[in-house]
Amino acid sequence: MKYPELYVTPFDFRPRTRVVFGAGEFARLGEVARELGGTRCLLVADPGIVNAGYAPEAIRSLKARRMTVHGFHEFQPNPTSAMAEAGGAFATPLDIDLIVAVGGGSSLDCAKAINFLLSNGGRMRDYWGYGKAARPMLPMIAVPTTAGGGSEAQSSATLVDSETGARMSCGDGKASFRVAILDPKLTTSQPAALASATGYDALSHALETFVTARHTALSECFSRSAWRLISSGFERMLRNPADLEARGAMLLGAHFGGLAVENSNLGAAHACAYPLSGHFGLAHGASLALVLAQVVDWNSSASDGSGARYRELYPGDLPARLRELAEMAGLAANLRDAGVPEGVLPRLADEAATQWFGKFNPRPFNAAAALEIYQAAY
Ligand SMILES: [Fe+2]
Repeated sequence: MKYPELYVTPFDFRPRTRVVFGAGEFARLGEVARELGGTRCLLVADPGIVNAGYAPEAIRSLKARRMTVHGFHEFQPNPTSAMAEAGGAFATPLDIDLIVAVGGGSSLDCAKAINFLLSNGGRMRDYWGYGKAARPMLPMIAVPTTAGGGSEAQSSATLVDSETGARMSCGDGKASFRVAILDPKLTTSQPAALASATGYDALSHALETFVTARHTALSECFSRSAWRLISSGFERMLRNPADLEARGAMLLGAHFGGLAVENSNLGAAHACAYPLSGHFGLAHGASLALVLAQVVDWNSSASDGSGARYRELYPGDLPARLRELAEMAGLAANLRDAGVPEGVLPRLADEAATQWFGKFNPRPFNAAAALEIYQAAY
């Protein structure tokens, strides 16, 4: 008999982030911050989080534990290196000893970026790549308010280079959050369109990490658990946004998805999605919804392809299920409906081929492959 593949490839894993999960756990922020020894805290939260009332709630919780709190809110979705550097300049004279990030991926990424500058100096460009921080970094707490990219589980910050517009990933093991507080109640206030797009991103992380060339028996634990939580939690959340159990499944699933990305990287769907977001202003999750089913088809169609691997997660027609979920989420079904002109596909494909994630796709991925995927998605 033929034994199934065991994937016992080597890895080096250390859990870096304490995870506190449960409805209402946000109230413990001050207590958790105090345990980390914080006294002068920088609160990084985007303006939407201030308006939603979460930033004032965080400040109350921290001040109740006798902490001084300084808020930084001057940044937008897809934060730029200049925004992070402004945050660094604002916080440098404040002698900060703890950073708290409350919000979506942009708040969390901005907090990580500011941490590089406060603890190691210089400019964001100095940290482009991985492992460039020589000195210890400040302890940080993440409180995600969207269930999506799982930034709270990852040691890299994704920014936009203000000078060139290029996507810049700055990572270091020391840039990991010390604690993540996952409170599903906070995610119920997300606008529906944001919950749909970020949820699809989480779904794609579960799936894409499960088949990458880098996956291990360990990353597989996170991918499987993420898939189980998200594949049913997503539909339930879309049907009833007040379903707190479904929100919890999404938030925890997104966290496991983030851990899976941290331990196995991503693949062709992310490589194809980034140029679409870059040129057509589509949300990251909306771009993924345009290509994920096609990537599953394309990866499965090679003779030694990932078809069997996908069937371990979902025994039915996976591309059909992915399209069904995208439709339920109100995300565009094809590139034409998303407003992408057919003539730009070759140029997008060239760009997709240069994306770092493509290297980890199970089936060798290049510009010709990206074009095939885009054409199937048109
Ligand atoms: Fe993603």
